[in-house]
Amino acid sequence: MSAALLQLSGLSGGYPPVSVFRNVNLTITGTEAIGLFGPNGHGKTTLLKTVAGLLDPWQGEILFAGQRLNSEGSMRARISRHLNYDLFRRRKIRARDVVRAGLIYVMQGNLLFPEMTVGEVLDIAQRAASGRQGVGEMRDTVHDLFPRLRERWQSKIRFLSGGERQMVSIAVGLLALPRLLILDEPTLGLSPKLRLELAESIARIRDTKVPLLVVDQNVEFLTDLVDRLYLFDHGTVTAEIDKAHMPSHDEILAMMFGSGQ
Ligand SMILES: Nc1ncnc2c1ncn2[C@@H]1O[C@H](COP(=O)(O)OP(=O)(O)O)[C@@H](O)[C@H]1O
Ligand SMILES: [Mg+2]
Repeated sequence: MSAALLQLSGLSGGYPPVSVFRNVNLTITGTEAIGLFGPNGHGKTTLLKTVAGLLDPWQGEILFAGQRLNSEGSMRARISRHLNYDLFRRRKIRARDVVRAGLIYVMQGNLLFPEMTVGEVLDIAQRAASGRQGVGEMRDTVHDLFPRLRERWQSKIRFLSGGERQMVSIAVGLLALPRLLILDEPTLGLSPKLRLELAESIARIRDTKVPLLVVDQNVEFLTDLVDRLYLFDHGTVTAEIDKAHMPSHDEILAMMFGSGQ
């Protein structure tokens, strides 16, 4: 058996003092694509932000490519009424180390600068990786995956549709040469037509063997895409389903929300 690319063991975290997710165990091996599906507001983004080093884990381990990304020890919930908690504690994980290790998180929502053009954003992304092996091939891959971005090269981000912005965000993630690409709600808020187009592009990323961890509300898109699906509810993993045993769309919704829905 090959070693895991990503292994979360007993991971807990949240926004002190509010616990958001607890005892999460999740593994990605080889070039697997993994899905995470669960209701809104139950802590998926908080979990991903923790894995990406933007929030400190409270407990548990994040192992990535054989390296432990978070430092040892559980976090003491030390809250002051007067001081910002963040001012006097040591970080347990650093986003810079996570990115350097090749774990790339494409955040939920549109976080691009509206006044930059598509070309400027992608040039900067590519320059950040310049000199690294494979950057030229990845640029070609990005152009193949998202031909629409070529047409929109001179457009400012603020004139793009939601789907096109999502394509730019994913392209930036790919140009960082990920060993694992995490996508948080890539199809959120898109029209059905654009959602389909984006889903096809993401399926083609999968064909390039970049391992994926994808959170999405569109369960059909996820079940078509992934090798394994984790169901996530109230801050914890409630089921893990293999592609070979993937239930239907309706069965998954019944597992999550009860059969009366
Ligand atoms: N910056 C924040 N500060 C405090 N609480 C937050 C913050 N962001 C999200 N939360 C809370 O954490 C919980 C989980 O949110 P989130 O991780 O965004 O869920 P999901 O991605 O599954 O929709 C929610 O109750 C939400 O209100
Ligand atoms: Mg979210």
